[in-house]
Amino acid sequence: MRSERSAEGGGALWGGRFASGMAPEMEALNRSLDADFRLWREDVRGSRAWAGALLGAGVIDGQEHRALTEGLSRVAERLQAGIPEGATDEDVHTLVERLLTEEAGTVAGKLHTGRSRNDQVATDLRLWGMDAAAALEEQLAGFAGALIDLAEREIDVILPGYTHLQQGQPIRAGHWALSHAWAILRDIGRVRRAGRQAAVLPLGSGAIAGCPFPVDREALREELGFHALSENSVDAVGDRDWSAELIFAGALIGIHLSRLAEDLVIFSSHEFSFVEIGEGYTTGSSLMPQKRNPDVAELARAKVGRLVGNLTGVLTLLKGLPAGYNRDLQDEKILLFDTADALALVLPALTGAVQSLRFRGDRIAERLSSELLATDLADALVRSGVPFRESHEIVGGWVREAEKRGVSLADLPAGITGRWGGAVSGPALEEIFDWERSVEARSVDGGTSRGSVLSQIRHARSRLPAAPT
Ligand code: ARG
Repeated sequence: MRSERSAEGGGALWGGRFASGMAPEMEALNRSLDADFRLWREDVRGSRAWAGALLGAGVIDGQEHRALTEGLSRVAERLQAGIPEGATDEDVHTLVERLLTEEAGTVAGKLHTGRSRNDQVATDLRLWGMDAAAALEEQLAGFAGALIDLAEREIDVILPGYTHLQQGQPIRAGHWALSHAWAILRDIGRVRRAGRQAAVLPLGSGAIAGCPFPVDREALREELGFHALSENSVDAVGDRDWSAELIFAGALIGIHLSRLAEDLVIFSSHEFSFVEIGEGYTTGSSLMPQKRNPDVAELARAKVGRLVGNLTGVLTLLKGLPAGYNRDLQDEKILLFDTADALALVLPALTGAVQSLRFRGDRIAERLSSELLATDLADALVRSGVPFRESHEIVGGWVREAEKRGVSLADLPAGITGRWGGAVSGPALEEIFDWERSVEARSVDGGTSRGSVLSQIRHARSRLPAAPT
């Protein structure tokens, strides 16, 4: 059944060529106000700029321009309070225009001259995306900063470095923390680049063919803070690449967060007890009184599902769309909003958790097995001239022998290893079994010695975006 277009149709902007109203179930599908209301500030900003462009083009006079801009200010005041009670408008653009009509009268009908919702929504969303990218960059910077601080705080702790989740070689806890920080620093770069891609102005593209009035797009660009003008109106109304890039950056951030989360879940387990997450970031069990669960990490890990889902969603949505604007794009923004919202929720919590993190040096020391230094032993033999392949074989034999005897590598009797002692011109084999010596030996750039980690900390800090003033 079709409703009367005028009332229930939410004051559609395109009623002229229709004889009857939209079916109510179609109206429900058609309406995007709940999702796109958050673009109201951008819509008002873009509209204000467009009124200026129409003035410059001679479409409206100074008085009309003033009426429109003053009206838009009053609309903005009203929208501060949220979606107006009982609004049935199709989307935020329709809502703003309806309120403007209430505030400014019939002159409101001139604002849409030469503009289409196609270039309007593309502009609004890009304005939103530029700010969202900047906000995300800031959240990421706070998080990376917390990881760098952690690295500095826990630089003395020596951890087993894991490969395949098997103890590999000793590393400084700070080195581990920085391994996560570097990934986030790369994310900051990706988010910044996506924000830059967003800053291309589509306004002036109209529905598809461009604007027939002599609007000054360059002045619009300047006023709205874009870096460049879109070069092709067909492309401009349908291009959401920048949004897909931001969603991709969000998915990869999620993957990085989930990897840290997994480390934290493992390291905070009873079996490891390497770290303690601050109480404020953990929860108990309603049944088991002893439990303290690393929920912050698990909930962060869980978010990756939707972050990656949004990426799959946006790529699938964009695939196969004919050139120009297609209504599918209305739903695209929901994916972008969801990615930004998920990260805005997770990043502050994870930042707090990292700030609260303490390494338990005592427990970690108990877990360091001397096999972690097998490579150091092989390297010692290399220093006395044994080819590495051979030294690898020899030390492998010692490990096997130690396993057979049920002792650790360090406790293997000198009778076994002694025959090689003479071949070692560097530190005596016993001296090899020293965690500090092992990590300090790795003093290359990017290594795990104190000096290397301290210089990483300096470099990482210098890569953090400056705090906004
Ligand atoms: N709400 C729409 C969107 O988000 C606005 C554009 C509608 N354009 C159109 N030709 N129906 O994409």
